[in-house]
Amino acid sequence: EKGGYPHFMLKEIYEQPQAIRDTFRGRMREHKGIIKMAGVDDHIDKFLNAKRLVILACGTSWHAGLVAEYIIEELVRVPVEVEYASEFRYRNPVIEKDDVVIAISQSGETADTMAAMKLAKEHGAFVFGVCNVVGSSISREAHAGAYTHAGPEIGVASTKAFTTQITVLTLLGLKIAKAKGKISTSDFHMHLEELRLIPEKVEEALKNNEHVRKIAEVYKDASNCLYLGRGFNFPVALEGALKLKEISYIHAEGYPAAEMKHGPIALIDEQMPVVVIATRRGHYDKIVSNIQEIKSRKGKIIAIVTKGDVTVKELADHVIEVPEVMDSMSPLLTTIPLQLLSYHIAVMLGKNVDQPRNLAKSVTVE
Ligand code: M6R
Repeated sequence: EKGGYPHFMLKEIYEQPQAIRDTFRGRMREHKGIIKMAGVDDHIDKFLNAKRLVILACGTSWHAGLVAEYIIEELVRVPVEVEYASEFRYRNPVIEKDDVVIAISQSGETADTMAAMKLAKEHGAFVFGVCNVVGSSISREAHAGAYTHAGPEIGVASTKAFTTQITVLTLLGLKIAKAKGKISTSDFHMHLEELRLIPEKVEEALKNNEHVRKIAEVYKDASNCLYLGRGFNFPVALEGALKLKEISYIHAEGYPAAEMKHGPIALIDEQMPVVVIATRRGHYDKIVSNIQEIKSRKGKIIAIVTKGDVTVKELADHVIEVPEVMDSMSPLLTTIPLQLLSYHIAVMLGKNVDQPRNLAKSVTVE
């Protein structure tokens, strides 16, 4: 059932090229210049009239929501708010009739997400679900939705659900942008073309597995780890840290790189590994100076860089390359080495990778 892999998590990490392809296949109609998503087409007015989008989710799905905030705001130019479902549901949230709410949940059974979306519905919002499990409670409760086609995700640590959620939300952003006339035809095509190439680029990123395993060997005994990223890759830093925490039980925190000097920099010494996402298109110069700040405090730097990078390579203790890609789609690639890093560390520490202590695959109670 694990298809020859020692753990479901590794199998699911390796399934990502196919899972992403399955998620966009049938939806991207490049020759016609359209993206087909029935749940959006049937309610296009809701999306066109929305003054803002509110995303509700928990955990990794919340991180995918944050990536979507950056993508959709950039493409559609409407404000997007990303809320922890558990907070939203208990604070008498401001929801207007014209708001479009997007509930993201792999399992479609998360209690807080379910309760938050019901509340949004009561306030008159249109609720769109992004779920992986077909027929799940959240997918049934939503007014409309789009499934991720990741296939069953068994490992408690979410991997392919995350990258397929980003894929669906990218399609959604592009589709609304097109419908609103916010994107030129050539830009729209350029985005579709980039997305079409993602599965093979993920494939290429996976080829670094052995290299990542060797880096894991060096840092497996660390008691803390920092993850830094900016822009589209800030949520990837949060996700990288969550992955390490939940399966290896090493304390890890993710931050937007520039926040470091507002506190976390005090933690940095020669014992502290710092994973920095430093791909070429995303605020590269700023990230380089963040790396210099870490280096001058003797932190150990593991950098995720664009293939062929020179500058960061000279500064970092280790680099892991990912293929060149447009900035907004880089999370689909930069996430891969972070998943592998936490996987290998957890295996080396003898932890139960697929079923970490104290965690359930779907959190159906508060
Ligand atoms: O099924 P959901 O996407 O609603 O689950 C949300 C979180 O419980 C989930 O992402 C959790 O954080 C994962 N264990 C993360 O790997």
